[in-house]
Amino acid sequence: MTRHLALLLSLGLLGCSPQPQPADNASWQEDYPVQYDSWLTTEETTRQADELERRPAMVVLWAGSGFAKDYNTPRGHRFSIADVTHTLRTGVPAKGPDEKGYSASCWTCKSPDVPRVMAEMGEENFAATDFTDQGLQMANSIGCADCHESGSDALHLPRPHAKNAMEKVNLAFEKQSPAMQGAQTCGQCHVTYYFQPEAHNKVNIPWIFGSTADEIERYYDTRRFYEWLHPISRTPMLKARHPEFETWSRSAHAEAGATCIDCHMPKRTNEDGRHYSDHNVGHALENFDLACAGCHESKGALSAALAKNKADIDAARTEVEDLLVKAHYEAKAAWDAGAEWAMMDSPILDIRHAQWRWDFAVASHGIHAHNPDEALALLAVARRQVNMARAKLELVHEQLNVTEVVYPDLSSKAAAQAAVNMDMATFNAEKDAFIEQVVAPNWPAAAMRGAPH
Ligand code: HEC
Ligand code: HEC
Ligand code: HEC
Ligand code: HEC
Repeated sequence: MTRHLALLLSLGLLGCSPQPQPADNASWQEDYPVQYDSWLTTEETTRQADELERRPAMVVLWAGSGFAKDYNTPRGHRFSIADVTHTLRTGVPAKGPDEKGYSASCWTCKSPDVPRVMAEMGEENFAATDFTDQGLQMANSIGCADCHESGSDALHLPRPHAKNAMEKVNLAFEKQSPAMQGAQTCGQCHVTYYFQPEAHNKVNIPWIFGSTADEIERYYDTRRFYEWLHPISRTPMLKARHPEFETWSRSAHAEAGATCIDCHMPKRTNEDGRHYSDHNVGHALENFDLACAGCHESKGALSAALAKNKADIDAARTEVEDLLVKAHYEAKAAWDAGAEWAMMDSPILDIRHAQWRWDFAVASHGIHAHNPDEALALLAVARRQVNMARAKLELVHEQLNVTEVVYPDLSSKAAAQAAVNMDMATFNAEKDAFIEQVVAPNWPAAAMRGAPH
């Protein structure tokens, strides 16, 4: 074969066999069947729990934001497209030319089709489109090209926002050990972020000063940034989102050299004696023999330690949630009695800071395993801050002769949603119609996988 012909073949220009499309997960199966099969098993983790039903107080804390409508526990990566399509948080298409739907940035961590489309149209142009504009493009759940360079097992970070963020905290991807590079592939998505209003809602990871809750808060405060104005207390709110990478990076496990990959993707041996990384990416404790036994003796002891961590965190967060609900309603009572911003500035800032720390602790899935000490420390500061807010509000109440505060009914998710005046019937009806008329007949099959709800 001439060199010229070889070049044409390698470029796929002769059209004999179609060039594999990196984002197309199925096109990796032939070369890497073992990894492919284990990756496919994330489809077996189907359960989802309704977190708002479990903790109706969160409806009040998130009132005015999409999180008060719908919030479930995560499940296997194979459901990423279906779940983001079905959640009420991504809404429905804009109803007219003057309306704007939710940003396509909601797709960012759901599919290897995202870096593909971003490369075609530009990161910011992608973010400027609506979520529902991009549905036809999203055919592949989280997969090979999200972590591997085209057609090979070499790792990479195809999302520009993630690459930039790692550089901000002096962890430039190219300069890391293979172990840290593996952890960073998870850290593209399992991190906190916000949509940058000045850049068409492009995803940004707020690590300019560092990645702790305090440092990120300083960044947001300096910029006077807020995600939404709380409709009950008028607090300019912040929202934390699953900071797994951040909390892990400061943990005893990170110090001991154990990464996300060691615990969630341990090395297995197949029938032919070949070693491979388990691409199931699921529940780490189920991998005890391969992932934990090198450093820990007993699975029972670990389970007990995890259960205790979880119970401690649950108790601390329940107390803070209860105090935060009270603070939001006590602020409302002050506003209703004619309070001025000059009196409210300080308690409102305390509510903002307290809820930010509470959220940073509880939005991190698996924090009871990853970094329970950080969760408890954040919740302790949050409790102090919300108590401070309430003490200040009590003085405002005295000044304005407020003698009674009415707190909401939190007996169920529905009761809490009614208390903050959410028209759930309309949200649900609009979403159901959109799924039935647009998504089910037109969008790629991944959008209906696992039939959520
Ligand atoms: C492209 C973004 C992305 C990448 C990369 C990613 N995740 Fe995820 N992960 C998600 C999303 C989104 C979900 C929730 C999916 C759902 O609920 O539909 C999730 C869910 C999970 C879950 C819950 C699974 C379950 O069965 O309950 C675990 C555990 C997890 N991811 C760990 C990891 C680890 C470890 C890595 C790195 C090896 C990783 N993820 C890489 C986006 C990502
Ligand atoms: C969330 C990130 C992530 C996804 C998705 C992912 N991989 Fe991997 N993969 C890794 C990491 C990290 C390693 C390296 C593990 C190590 O070196 O310890 C790896 C290792 C590999 C290897 C090297 C051999 C081995 O088993 O360790 C192959 C081949 C591979 N992956 C293929 C695939 C294929 C095919 C897919 C899609 C079906 C896929 N990977 C999806 C993160 C990912
Ligand atoms: C020392 C082992 C270990 C390390 C390191 C680790 N995890 Fe975990 N992770 C766990 C355990 C244990 C759980 C609790 C649930 C379980 O049993 O898997 C968990 C839970 C999770 C969950 C929540 C799953 C759910 O369904 O609620 C996600 C997401 C997750 N880990 C992602 C990550 C990411 C991303 C990293 C790296 C930044 C990481 N983990 C590092 C052990 C680990
Ligand atoms: C590289 C070694 C290493 C691996 C692998 C490892 N751990 Fe650990 N683990 C540690 C170290 C070090 C500590 C901190 C011990 C201490 O502070 O006393 C720790 C502490 C813990 C704790 C807290 C124990 C307690 O008494 O509160 C839990 C829970 C835990 N690990 C779970 C796991 C799980 C689950 C896995 C496997 C999925 C795992 N670890 C894998 C090194 C490891």
